[in-house]
Amino acid sequence: MTTARLTAITAVLALLTACSGDTPVPPSTPSAPVIEVPGPAVPTQERVAAVLAQMTLAEKIGQMTQLEEGSIDAGDVARLNLGSVLHGGGTAGDGSLETWSSIVHDRQREALTETRLGIPLLYGVDAVHGFGALHGATVFPHQIGLGAANDPDLMQRIGRATAIEVAATGIRWNFSPVLAIPDDVRWGRTYEAYSQDPARVSELGTAYVTGLQGANLTDATSVLATPKHFVGDGQAAYGTSTQHIFRPYVIDQGVAPVNPTQLRDVLLPPYQDAIDAGALSVMATFSSWGSTKVHSQRELLTTTLRGDLGFTGFVVSDWAGCDQIDPADFDGSMVACINAGVDMVMVPHDGDRFQQALTEAVDGGSLSMARVDEAVSRILTVKFDMGLFEDPYGDAALGAPVGTDAHRALAREAVVKSQVLLKNDGALPLPSADATIVVVGNAAHDMGRQAGGWTMDWQGGEGDVIPGTTIVEGIEARGGDQVRVVRELPASGTVDVCIAVVGEAPYAEGVGDSMDLALPGIEILDTFRGRCDSTVLVLVTGRPVLVTDAIATADAVVASWLPGTAGEGVADVLFGDRAFSGTLPVNWPRDISQVPSTPDSRDYLFPLGYGLTQ
Ligand code: BGC
Ligand code: BGC
Repeated sequence: MTTARLTAITAVLALLTACSGDTPVPPSTPSAPVIEVPGPAVPTQERVAAVLAQMTLAEKIGQMTQLEEGSIDAGDVARLNLGSVLHGGGTAGDGSLETWSSIVHDRQREALTETRLGIPLLYGVDAVHGFGALHGATVFPHQIGLGAANDPDLMQRIGRATAIEVAATGIRWNFSPVLAIPDDVRWGRTYEAYSQDPARVSELGTAYVTGLQGANLTDATSVLATPKHFVGDGQAAYGTSTQHIFRPYVIDQGVAPVNPTQLRDVLLPPYQDAIDAGALSVMATFSSWGSTKVHSQRELLTTTLRGDLGFTGFVVSDWAGCDQIDPADFDGSMVACINAGVDMVMVPHDGDRFQQALTEAVDGGSLSMARVDEAVSRILTVKFDMGLFEDPYGDAALGAPVGTDAHRALAREAVVKSQVLLKNDGALPLPSADATIVVVGNAAHDMGRQAGGWTMDWQGGEGDVIPGTTIVEGIEARGGDQVRVVRELPASGTVDVCIAVVGEAPYAEGVGDSMDLALPGIEILDTFRGRCDSTVLVLVTGRPVLVTDAIATADAVVASWLPGTAGEGVADVLFGDRAFSGTLPVNWPRDISQVPSTPDSRDYLFPLGYGLTQ
């Protein structure tokens, strides 16, 4: 065993002991790998070749297999020679740093010590707005808010902070950022995207990749980025989805009309820039182009991605994305997927079936050994370039504090910069003294709504799901002794300012596809009639919503997006302590006839780029 590994294990055990109070079980004596891996002084390609030359077919297929944490038991990493494990949208156990670290450590230990080759695992998660599934982590605004902030330097710092909090668990791979351009804001993933403006997507996506991956990929706090979903996830047309999870999807995973000009001029440039910035894994999209699933399109996944864009890393499928190629033919779908250019398959559940399909395909000739070697080489190259062979447990990063004051200050800065002032007839800034302010609405005191999907659970949840400051708490704290902030409209009389904070219930992916962009809860504004000297509407939504009448009624309106844990940031701009600087990252429709788009952008209620400063 290398010294680095020993140090790493010692560090993890120390951490676990400190946190649980139990005496740790000593690590089992690792069986020495039967192959020699050339050291880091040897060029990566030679190291890859040396390992590949000693691998059996089963070991190669293992590297191409990614299984979901919940579908594996102790022993499966070794039995299936797994190259990767992902933890899907939900959280691990109690979500604590200790739980995450010990799960990741156990899987890695098994890969290192119970397989013949001892090739380290690459463990992946969706830390899409900070590590939302890690209890106590800093949860930043979702991407659409950061698109409104449009600040690449901020984006890079958020990438860095996210990487540090992810790496604290020993995880080194994040399925983020989304580089989609959402054509139709009814799409449930609109909030996962930065903007409809490809220039913003390019700049912010690139800055985030740079921050996440850090100065040097081998650093223990460097986390591999995954631009996704290549390509056309935001182009699926309304009514074309056939997916059904919890409810029928409408848009997500549907059919994108083939449009080569849009592909070249709008959709590919953000990927080009992210690749140029060093992105080494890309996730394929569930969408179809024309009638064919992108997961089976070699033209896109290989010719365009590698040939035109110069991508040299590995392609990971989306969650059971290969299965969708032909739901009636699992084996054929896996082969088509890999032949199209997918190198690692997010299976995610039935590893035995997947591996058997690939083994038979190689034996039968429908999948060449050359293609398998190519895929495995790409995966191993990234593992070597990340320094996983030298520091598989990430010992230098492990156990670092998450949700630090510095990261929370960064989240607050991000919230401030992401708020878009849509209207102000003088109601803002809020009075700083001698006033009563009423703050009501379904998102006034609801951390879950504020954080949106991908927070502790795939779909997120309402209420007190994670620690943080709700918007009303931020307003109360700022109001201090000078301003009376109340959470209910008094039974009679008038008050100085009434604020309605109204938000969407959390959702993720196609479960959140909307048919009407309605906002239940907006009717609370009716209760303000005749009772408030001025009214402010704060919208906590993952996308524009159709509340044109409410916007006309309120004296001031703020698009707050899904701000995450730092509700203080909303108070900062409402009270005028910080200036509004966010601008709309997407067009805001006036009515449903303008969705997905209207020919003349001047017709929108507010066009992309709009935002008042006071
Ligand atoms: C999503 C991906 C995500 C993956 C793993 C899929 O359903 O489309 O964006 O990375 O799940 O959670
Ligand atoms: C997982 C997600 C995944 C989704 C798709 C969820 O259980 O947590 O990561 O995208 O399933 O079905």
